[in-house]
Amino acid sequence: MSEPMLALAGVHTHIGQYHILQGVDLVVPRGELTVLLGRNGAGKTTTLRTIMGLWHASRGALLFDGNDVTRAATPDISCAGIAYVPENMGIFSDLTVRENLLLAARAGEPDTARLEWIFGFFPALKKFWNQAAGTLSGGQKQMLAIARAIVEPRKLLLVDEPTKGLAPAIIQSLITAFRELKAMETTILLVEQNFSFVKSLGDTVAVMDDGRIVHSGRMDELAEDRELQQKLLGLSLDTHQ
Ligand SMILES: Nc1ncnc2c1ncn2[C@@H]1O[C@H](COP(=O)(O)OP(=O)(O)OP(=O)(O)O)[C@@H](O)[C@H]1O
Ligand SMILES: [Mg+2]
Repeated sequence: MSEPMLALAGVHTHIGQYHILQGVDLVVPRGELTVLLGRNGAGKTTTLRTIMGLWHASRGALLFDGNDVTRAATPDISCAGIAYVPENMGIFSDLTVRENLLLAARAGEPDTARLEWIFGFFPALKKFWNQAAGTLSGGQKQMLAIARAIVEPRKLLLVDEPTKGLAPAIIQSLITAFRELKAMETTILLVEQNFSFVKSLGDTVAVMDDGRIVHSGRMDELAEDRELQQKLLGLSLDTHQ
């Protein structure tokens, strides 16, 4: 097996006096989409923030693309090739769609062919190109947030609950976008609670509870095993069509 894109080994994170991550072991294989599931407050966002260096691990180690990034600063982690779409999306409301994308492109003007590729699955961004991002709908803002993260090729994309509050039609366009990214062999770590959204997208899956990974394996195995879903996710048979 090739070296994973990202590996967390025994990672503990404290936020102030609170001991939030309590020994997280997580492997994100290269070129795959890994889904991180878990109930509210399990520690999913804290895991992403620890990967980005926004919180620092008090114990354990983080390896990205073979390099130890446990104590690296956020700008260095970003420059090393990790893009992060946070829960609150982190877009600039007063700036236009175009300006939001320009700011996200480190190499200057975004590549035209890459923009056309993004417009292919997020056409609203082309339509509202010169409109302030704050005037977009929730789903369009989410598209812009993801577009900012992929405006240049990145090694690893972290996305925190992109489907929150979105209508099914918008979720469908996110599925298309993630499939496109997978086809480009982007490695993705996707945090979700919406199992029906991720069960056909994920290659690998990890389930978190109380600051630890309590299950990891292949997504197709979990998707077929209703008993395990019930045990890990508390899903009832009628909620995951
Ligand atoms: N800034 C903070 N200060 C104190 N406690 C925090 C802070 N951020 C998160 N926590 C706590 O850490 C725990 C994990 O939170 P986290 O946001 O990582 O969970 P999550 O799995 O992303 O949940 P959700 O699905 O609701 O987004 C929770 O108990 C939360 O209250
Ligand atoms: Mg969260």
